[in-house]
Amino acid sequence: MKLKIAILPGDGIGPEITEQAMKTVKALAKKFNHELEYEYALTGAIAIDKVGNPYPDETHELCMNSDAVLFGAIGDPRFDNNPKATVRPEQGLLAMRKKLGLYANIRPVETFEQLLHKSPLRRELVEGADFVCIRELTGGIYFGEKGRKDNGNTAFDTNTYTREEIERILKLGYEFAAQRRKKLTVVDKANVLESSRLWREVAQKMAPRYPDIQTEYMFVDNAAMQIIQWPKNFDVMVTENMFGDILTDEASVITGSLGLLPSASIGIHTSVFEPIHGSYPQAAGKDIANPIATILSAAMMFETAFNLPDEGKAIRDAVAASMDEGFVTEDIAQGPAYKTSQVGDWIAHYIEKI
Ligand code: IPM
Ligand code: MG
Repeated sequence: MKLKIAILPGDGIGPEITEQAMKTVKALAKKFNHELEYEYALTGAIAIDKVGNPYPDETHELCMNSDAVLFGAIGDPRFDNNPKATVRPEQGLLAMRKKLGLYANIRPVETFEQLLHKSPLRRELVEGADFVCIRELTGGIYFGEKGRKDNGNTAFDTNTYTREEIERILKLGYEFAAQRRKKLTVVDKANVLESSRLWREVAQKMAPRYPDIQTEYMFVDNAAMQIIQWPKNFDVMVTENMFGDILTDEASVITGSLGLLPSASIGIHTSVFEPIHGSYPQAAGKDIANPIATILSAAMMFETAFNLPDEGKAIRDAVAASMDEGFVTEDIAQGPAYKTSQVGDWIAHYIEKI
């Protein structure tokens, strides 16, 4: 099969980790006889530095003309501490999501037997936890009307959702739940927010259409507590943009390391696959960052964008083997730690050998 991938390494550790994922992708393409075509493009702070725009038109063109996008990370401390910056790297990510119509961010939360000791939670609470967060990604407070008034002394951001936006993300939630353990948790703040009341109204109307699936409603503050207390009670969780941003960071530590979790953003145009951990600027260029989240994002790319589950499984098997062997980076090592590039090489070689 012909596979055309756009690679957007971005900032911080982005270039190092996407490089490791591409080693794996190349090894797989060779092994499974796929014709691989790939091209790099600018995004984030580096794109601001080079061309003054965090999501340049050429990058968008390339994404639109590719079968999938492999994304590293975005963000740079130079901008974080400057609230007056007129252009920010994160705007590139938001522009990409909006222009590609990526309305759903899929974040699976799985535990790895080899790493349960790394979780801040007790083993019996996390062992076997396996759920998916589906975060709405192109609406809500991130994209609503925002600004300043009263000479800059009052600031506002608006949380807006349409019925159609809510329906399409809930539909996806039900489709995921149907393939899994048949439970959907709709997370909102319907006791306070009008936008959440519309979410709940839409969900209550849709639920009878999915009689096999148990629909559960949960306020976001309660959900934040339950994720930690009973992570095994969740199967598929669906929520709005900002609640999803917060809850998925929280959920990611259940498994022991933020460096392990992949994600897929899907919607109207080309899908984007990226680790959830961000640009980790302190580690940039040091060859110490964990490449597994990005390598697993490549597995999701094969499974979701290319519909090639065997290739996805080959990556997952190789990652599991590297953990079994203890061939991992310092954040999860129990014995000697290996470099980012060494882990990338090990996983790619493992795939070549199978
Ligand atoms: C994420 C990130 C982004 C978000 C930032 C970098 C804009 O935290 O993908 O979760 O808030 O969506
Ligand atoms: Mg986030």
